[in-house]
Amino acid sequence: MCFGAVSDAYFKSFRRHAPAWKALLEAVRTDESVRILDLASGPGESAKTMALAMPAAQITATDIEQAMVDKHAQYIGGLPNVESRVANAEDLSVFADGSFDAVTMCYGIMFVVDRPKTFAEIKRVLKPGGKLALTFWRESKISLLAREMLLELGRDDIQPFDSNKCGKEGMMDAELQAAGFEVVKNVDDAYDFGPYESIEDLYETAIVPFAFSLDGNPEKEELMAKAKFEFWKLAPIRYPNNTIPANKFRLTLASL
Ligand SMILES: C[S@@+](CC[C@H](N)C(=O)[O-])C[C@H]1O[C@@H](n2cnc3c(N)ncnc32)[C@H](O)[C@@H]1O
Repeated sequence: MCFGAVSDAYFKSFRRHAPAWKALLEAVRTDESVRILDLASGPGESAKTMALAMPAAQITATDIEQAMVDKHAQYIGGLPNVESRVANAEDLSVFADGSFDAVTMCYGIMFVVDRPKTFAEIKRVLKPGGKLALTFWRESKISLLAREMLLELGRDDIQPFDSNKCGKEGMMDAELQAAGFEVVKNVDDAYDFGPYESIEDLYETAIVPFAFSLDGNPEKEELMAKAKFEFWKLAPIRYPNNTIPANKFRLTLASL
């Protein structure tokens, strides 16, 4: 799954996630000169939010994709306490053991292929007593739309990408405990996507999990065109005011 293809759309619409960045910041906020590794930083707002609120902290903002690192390096724009690097959350070998006080990851854990490996790597780069703060979807409506679109197009043979895959009650707690973390707290919240200025803007966001579901599928272009047609019929009824309401997320804070 590649965000590079949608990085412009994501960058344009990403500000809607402010409640998640705020929750992440509150989980790790300190006046001390800590080192924080932000994984899957995407366009960079989570790292920038932390860097501005914690001037004594040193933030390493990372993403698996060079396109996203380029975007966030430009967006963060020379803040003295942030460095940008390419890094895969599943293989943090570019970082030494015990080199961070905290690791943060906002809406990234659902994209890794091997979560136990990711948690083991995070554990390795954390200092003893280090913190891990994660946000993940419990009910992102655009993921439900991807499933619905595939059924609408008669394609129940295609597995929809599920952004909510980590949101089942207790699942993340159990995985973190199995990886040697103690779950300190879970905070649940929800926010709307939108209102967007136009259906076109709404569509650019809403279609992302559907597009991920078709990665590598030779029929992708044709199915995307059909889905766009369906979306234009559905959107005014389903998303009045170009808004996707009440997307539920969770912040989990764990420690070693
Ligand atoms: C939904 S975006 C979240 C971006 C950002 N944290 C935010 O809250 O705005 C997910 C990001 O995860 C990145 N990603 C996917 N797999 C990854 C992996 N294995 N390691 C690191 N980053 C990954 C993608 O490139 C993308 O930028």
